Amino acid sequence: MSRNIYIFALFGFFAINVFTIEAKSIPEDSIKSILNDPLNDDHRKVLHAITGYRHRFEQSGNFKALRWALGDKKTSGLCDLCDIGTPLIRLLLELNDTTLIDEAVNFFCKEYILLDENVCLGAAYEYIGAVFQVLELAPLNNRQICSLAFECQPQTDFPIFNWNVTFPDKPKPTPQPPQPPSPSSPKLNILHLSDIHVDFSYKPGSQADCSQPLCCRGGQPVPGHTGAGFWGDYRNCDIPFWTAQALVKYASQAEEFDFIYYTGDLPAHNVWNQSRADQLYSINTINSMLATVFPNKTFYSAVGNHEAAPCNLYPTPNIRTDNISWLYEALADNWIRLGLPADTRDSILNGAFYTTLIRPGLRLISLNMNYCTSDNFWLIINSTDPLGQLQWLIDWLQYAEDHEEKVHIIAHQPPSSCLAAYSWNFYKIVNRYENTIAGQFFGHAHAEELKVFYDEVDTQRPVSMAYIGPSLTTYSYLNPGYRVYTIDGDYQGSSFWALDYHTVIMNLTASNKYNQTIFLKEYEARDAYQMKNLFPNDWHDLIQRLKNDIDGPTMGLVYQFYTKSYANGNECDHNCRRGLLCDFISARSEDPHACDSLPPFN
Ligand SMILES: *[C@@H]1O[C@H](CO)[C@@H](O)[C@H](O)[C@H]1NC(C)=O
Ligand SMILES: *[C@@H]1O[C@H](CO)[C@@H](O)[C@H](O)[C@H]1NC(C)=O
Ligand SMILES: *[C@@H]1O[C@H](CO)[C@@H](O)[C@H](O)[C@H]1NC(C)=O
Ligand SMILES: *[C@@H]1O[C@H](CO)[C@@H](O)[C@H](O)[C@H]1NC(C)=O
Ligand SMILES: *[C@@H]1O[C@H](CO)[C@@H](O)[C@H](O)[C@H]1NC(C)=O
Ligand SMILES: *[C@@H]1O[C@H](CO)[C@@H](O)[C@H](O)[C@H]1NC(C)=O
Ligand SMILES: *[C@@H]1O[C@H](CO)[C@@H](O)[C@H](O)[C@H]1NC(C)=O
Ligand SMILES: *[C@@H]1O[C@H](CO)[C@@H](O)[C@H](O)[C@H]1NC(C)=O
Repeated sequence: MSRNIYIFALFGFFAINVFTIEAKSIPEDSIKSILNDPLNDDHRKVLHAITGYRHRFEQSGNFKALRWALGDKKTSGLCDLCDIGTPLIRLLLELNDTTLIDEAVNFFCKEYILLDENVCLGAAYEYIGAVFQVLELAPLNNRQICSLAFECQPQTDFPIFNWNVTFPDKPKPTPQPPQPPSPSSPKLNILHLSDIHVDFSYKPGSQADCSQPLCCRGGQPVPGHTGAGFWGDYRNCDIPFWTAQALVKYASQAEEFDFIYYTGDLPAHNVWNQSRADQLYSINTINSMLATVFPNKTFYSAVGNHEAAPCNLYPTPNIRTDNISWLYEALADNWIRLGLPADTRDSILNGAFYTTLIRPGLRLISLNMNYCTSDNFWLIINSTDPLGQLQWLIDWLQYAEDHEEKVHIIAHQPPSSCLAAYSWNFYKIVNRYENTIAGQFFGHAHAEELKVFYDEVDTQRPVSMAYIGPSLTTYSYLNPGYRVYTIDGDYQGSSFWALDYHTVIMNLTASNKYNQTIFLKEYEARDAYQMKNLFPNDWHDLIQRLKNDIDGPTMGLVYQFYTKSYANGNECDHNCRRGLLCDFISARSEDPHACDSLPPFN
């Protein structure tokens, strides 16, 4: 094979696995010119940026701001790359020459990535098996694969990605939006912990701006740059164990709450070099610590995308060469030790999703959303309701409706991160069971976000609310934080809707400066946003107010809280604000008209 074929083949390979990224954020011209002249020095820099993007920036406010700034400028660059790369990988596969493949991977990692060569090789060998199998088994043509990976073409264009859940033959009850309870009625409080991402290799004083996707683990700071802070660092670093410990200890002393929602992602972001043993170490160590700090609290847990090894890859039962039981057994043990009833075990072993009663009248449903995202390459082989999870969700929601229970849904990834058919089906389910679902709680984004769900027909009528809670990790450019919700209950006929919440952050700048943890209550939602209640209607009203004064101070506050007060509102310009607001009303993926009512980008 000629040198150029290597290049393209490996580009394609990386296109599919290392950076299943937001294609829209990379200018088309750069990609075209890289293709024309891949060895040029400037291009290496761009490539470096591209390969670093996914893990480095996918969670960062800056990256989102960049994406929003680029707005809807369409980029077909990566799609072109993918179209070229995929057939070449299929050719490599057919040749079935492992030496050739090794040679190609090594060549690519050496020649084309300024990114640490070991990161490149590590990532390549972690994912290569899955990528090759997916390409071999997926009943898809190259265009379909590229569309899934890079949103080149809407998934709805391809019948193979489209499927519908079925609802029981019972009419939807008349909508009954929640009503405010009397001020003196009993309340429950829920602590929400998410995205802990402890880096057990964190080293204070080490290099915090390295060329790897995760830093603060070694090396000396470049002259003129500060080293990693003792309590953490805003740059591309996760938090040390002692910071996680300090945060939850503080929460255990400062907060009053009844139980805990715990929405996943325990391991650090060194995704190019993680074994099953590493993940189990993170899971067992962090959970033991939590069990000690909260000896008498029930955790309602959900699984994140980072718990698997490699990250994101959750094989479905039809995959014969990979088996996720090692993880689900550990999760079942851990989650039950953290307070789940033992009768959830079989369900957890089956798919790491389960349901249980929190209180009579309040049902918890924990979903495993790794079965909904395109980051889980195994779904490319068959994306139709993996493990029947959504159909199972409908069964339980119907059960809850029939038994007059309210339901809280928790999961790691919000449904807006799902494949299109999945997220549209989810939306439909939320619509059908709007009277039953009293709250949805997710993580994954690290920044604080929210999603308002609307009626599918009357698109101005809000029907449900999803909260995306803050991360404990700083990754990236965030203060560590947690949240506490106050909900209506527990008494006869309580609605179990969230009535208010507050977020507590650790001021990392101050903590490092004075070398002691400094916490502050960042804000209380109703007070900060001047809302009567936190029902869907109230959020809808807030969105209207923000829309009408998008460049004003309240939207600035929303952005500040989005970054957990790392940044202030001035750092988010008009387009950034418009982008953030659009996210709040986009609970579905591939919903091109969700934000038509917002003022345009500048
Ligand atoms: C590739 O070659 C190996 C032996 O080197 C063989 O076991 C395997 O079945 C081959 N795979 C395909 C897809 O031909
Ligand atoms: C991966 O981690 C192990 C320790 O867990 C370390 O010895 C090794 O050097 C790392 N490899 C890379 C490529 O970073
Ligand atoms: C799913 O339902 C929609 C409308 O309800 C319909 O247009 C579409 O054809 C259905 N898709 C499949 C695969 O059944
Ligand atoms: C644990 O909680 C139960 C009921 O909520 C209470 O009776 C008991 O005293 C608590 N134990 C500790 C050690 O706090
Ligand atoms: C995975 O392993 C478990 C136990 O080790 C076994 O019960 C299960 O059948 C396996 N699943 C698949 C799809 O092979
Ligand atoms: C994909 O999975 C669904 C549900 O498990 C199943 O009904 C369907 O037959 C599968 N499709 C293919 C092409 O295997
Ligand atoms: C955090 O602490 C720094 C240094 O003491 C201070 O300048 C900053 O205003 C604080 N941030 C917040 C959100 O309180
Ligand atoms: C900060 O305090 C910890 C103990 O809490 C100590 O181990 C560490 O050396 C101190 N760091 C600095 C930079 O003073």
